[in-house]
Amino acid sequence: MLCGLGTWLPPKVVPNDEIAARLDTSDEWIRARTGIRQRHVVEPGTATSDLAVEAGLRALKSADTDQVDALVLATTTPDRPCPATAPDVAHRIGLDRVAAFDVNAVCTGFLYGMASAAGLIAAGVAERVLVIGADTFSTITDPDCRSTAAIFGDGAGAVVLRAGSPHELGALGPFDLGSDGADADLIMVPAGGSRQRSTRRPAAPGAEFFTMAGKAVFRKAIFQMAGSAQSVLQKAGLRLRDIDKFVIHQANARILNGVADMLGQPTGKFVRNIEQVGNTAAASVPLALTSACESGELRAGQRVLLGAFGGGLTWGSTVLRWPDIEIL
Ligand code: UT7
Repeated sequence: MLCGLGTWLPPKVVPNDEIAARLDTSDEWIRARTGIRQRHVVEPGTATSDLAVEAGLRALKSADTDQVDALVLATTTPDRPCPATAPDVAHRIGLDRVAAFDVNAVCTGFLYGMASAAGLIAAGVAERVLVIGADTFSTITDPDCRSTAAIFGDGAGAVVLRAGSPHELGALGPFDLGSDGADADLIMVPAGGSRQRSTRRPAAPGAEFFTMAGKAVFRKAIFQMAGSAQSVLQKAGLRLRDIDKFVIHQANARILNGVADMLGQPTGKFVRNIEQVGNTAAASVPLALTSACESGELRAGQRVLLGAFGGGLTWGSTVLRWPDIEIL
């Protein structure tokens, strides 16, 4: 049962013009090819955990609770390679001694995190779980690379899941999760892990930055998000027309249109906030949910399909009927 939702964006906004002023790109290109107008980025010294704490506190308040049994943090940009960032976030939120771990499924992290939390609840390990998706891609993208620096933004979003009946509003339907490691190289940070460090040689210049084979990823994102949506609907015994809103990873406005096309659904059923925040990786789905609730596009009782696609490659979907909750 989803019973709370909270988000946090770092205050600093970077409009397209600011990127165009230092890179060979333009506001027109970024808007036309991605749908993005601006993104939020962290100030020097701000880490992913700082955003995660803010979003987590808001989700707990939205769920009207200050206690959970576990915290799952989906992130690709942990504060440090070791240890996981989740225990630190739990401690700073005041959730001392709870189970806390990170999940890295890149932009699918939030869906993987929610599925892990739902599993902990189903297994009786936890009654309530705080799931946070938080990323600061501005810390791993090459500031001189126009095709990644223009796309990604920083942010965090969180939900509280609790045990409940499958008939209640907010009850999460089945999950569809998948991966294809054969294409692991399409989205990656080449250096910094054991593959490079075991060579005992310093990383090649620039190899610590995030890279993405944009065109190949674009096509796979459409194909896998559409396929995963169909799989989860089949598992749930639902049809496409039963879904009121699709809240899927905000990677590119053209990808949202492509998924709508492939599913034969009107683009108006696809929530979009990419214009304001860019691609925020693991924070993307909860940020889109918040924006849809705030605009009145998503209302209690509506059936919503959540979906994502990202590095790994990974993808995932779930369905639920939206609960009557206060968003913070
Ligand atoms: O979040 C997880 C998954 N991520 C995604 O799903 C992202 C998927 N990919 C995309 O959204 C798009 O592929 C991009 C937005 C990254 C790129 O858009 P595109 O329309 O696929 O462009 P492209 O990569 O095919 O590049 C076309 C041209 C290239 O120039 P040449 O080689 O044709 O001369 C690029 O260098 O556009 C160029 N280009 C740019 N030009 C101006 C790439 N980025 C920019 C830019 N400004 N920011």
